[in-house]
Amino acid sequence: MSNAPLIEKLNEALGWELRAISQYSHYAAYIRGIHRFQLAPHFNSEAQESMTHADTVRASIVKLGGIAVTERNPKAIEHTSDYKIMLQESLDTEISASKVYSEILTLVEKTGDSDLYDSIEQIYLAEVRSVEELRMLVE
Ligand SMILES: [Fe+2]
Ligand SMILES: [Fe+2]
Repeated sequence: MSNAPLIEKLNEALGWELRAISQYSHYAAYIRGIHRFQLAPHFNSEAQESMTHADTVRASIVKLGGIAVTERNPKAIEHTSDYKIMLQESLDTEISASKVYSEILTLVEKTGDSDLYDSIEQIYLAEVRSVEELRMLVE
């Protein structure tokens, strides 16, 4: 079986992680008002986490013999200093990420590569936790 569809999906996830790094770093820099106390560190740690996820995904692409993308997902990052918009945009990002990772898990399952499955599953679960958390924050 060709690895091409799996590599393509992993590259899609990598594009979302690269976009998430930009989005969260941007929001950490622009968050204003009292929420800056909590949300600046939160957005910075999300940016770090996205960097870690990107590293894992990129290494998997290399291992499968693919070429990792260097461009982020092209979806525009909304500039704002309003925390409510930031949280809603973050939720949308995390939903997109968790969807791509669940699609990757389906493909990895067919390859029988349990190491790859475990590492992608860890990322997927982190994205799902972020979705749950952000859903409560935007209420
Ligand atoms: Fe991520
Ligand atoms: Fe995430």
